[in-house]
Amino acid sequence: MLIGTILLKITPIHAKAELGYWIGTSYWGQGYCTEAAIAIMKYGFLELELNRIYATHFKSNLASGRIMQKIGMNYEGCYRQHIKKWGKFEDLELYGILKSEWLNWQPSVTVFLY
Ligand SMILES: CC(C)(COP(=O)(O)OP(=O)(O)OC[C@H]1O[C@@H](n2cnc3c(N)ncnc32)[C@H](O)[C@@H]1OP(=O)(O)O)[C@@H](O)C(=O)NCCC(=O)NCCS
Repeated sequence: MLIGTILLKITPIHAKAELGYWIGTSYWGQGYCTEAAIAIMKYGFLELELNRIYATHFKSNLASGRIMQKIGMNYEGCYRQHIKKWGKFEDLELYGILKSEWLNWQPSVTVFLY
């Protein structure tokens, strides 16, 4: 059963990708997105040989930001009023991690990778 999706939007020439995800509301708060994000980052760095993975979230979306922190990404700054949503300009927070940083990163949460 599909409960969510996770993706890497790859820019091959720069060996980088943007991480994106959503989980169905019935399944929030059970660590699924964190687990999937850790798995896809491993795939991105080791199999796809990416150098950088980054992600953005609306300032108000604290759960999404928390995932970026839990998977070892670093806060890189704010795209101010980057998106116009429902007639209102919204800030986007930017997080990222380099392969060299990821290789030395240890998850602080228990994850099972298949
Ligand atoms: C964001 C989203 C993917 C999270 O999925 P999830 O499977 O519930 O995430 P996890 O359970 O792995 O982790 C969520 C973390 O956010 C925290 N969190 C949840 N709501 C929060 C809030 N309002 N403020 C701060 N932290 C919050 C949880 O406590 C958890 O952190 P913890 O493990 O340290 O306790 C899900 O809510 C979603 O699909 N939202 C709609 C789509 C979306 O926002 N996509 C991302 C766009 S940038």
